Amino acid sequence: MSQLRGDAERWLLSFYRASEISGALFFGRLANVIRDPRVQFDLTRHFADESQHARWWSDCMDTLGVRPARVSASYQDAYLEAGGAPANLMEVLAVTLAFEKRVAGSYASHLKVHELAPPIRTTLERIMDDEGWHIQWVSRALRELEPEYGADTVKVAIDRYAAADREVYQKTLAEHDEIVASLQHFKAA
Ligand SMILES: [Fe+2]
Ligand SMILES: [Fe+2]
Repeated sequence: MSQLRGDAERWLLSFYRASEISGALFFGRLANVIRDPRVQFDLTRHFADESQHARWWSDCMDTLGVRPARVSASYQDAYLEAGGAPANLMEVLAVTLAFEKRVAGSYASHLKVHELAPPIRTTLERIMDDEGWHIQWVSRALRELEPEYGADTVKVAIDRYAAADREVYQKTLAEHDEIVASLQHFKAA
């Protein structure tokens, strides 16, 4: 018998997998074109992490005996639509910061659900270790770019994408929280 709490949980895991794949593709393309050596180094590791996360969600669903559902919405597209396409490296990092914070928050709220299926808990915990580093290196890189772009300009970009994040959240991601909240009330039959 599947340890999943029905279609809602399957959809969530599928959404996570699809988001990790979109993130991996986004960071992988960037790692290939960005020349700043330090940023290139960290982006390459970041790209590898997101690929690994997609793999872990696939493994998790396989262990639970389910196949990923088709997911059309992508976090990334919605962010770029709401905040506008980033014009330079600093803005790429600003949108990444907003995005990574939201992902970490989503995973943290899912981890609080009682009696999660063990493969889901293990996968969330493994991924959260990496997500902390993602927020950390992007924040550091943005600070280091302040002399080049101006601290005010960096702050404006961070605020712009934080606002885009709230817009995306209201339009699409609130659904995630509703699903997670519904899992809290789930009682095993
Ligand atoms: Fe990830
Ligand atoms: Fe991440």
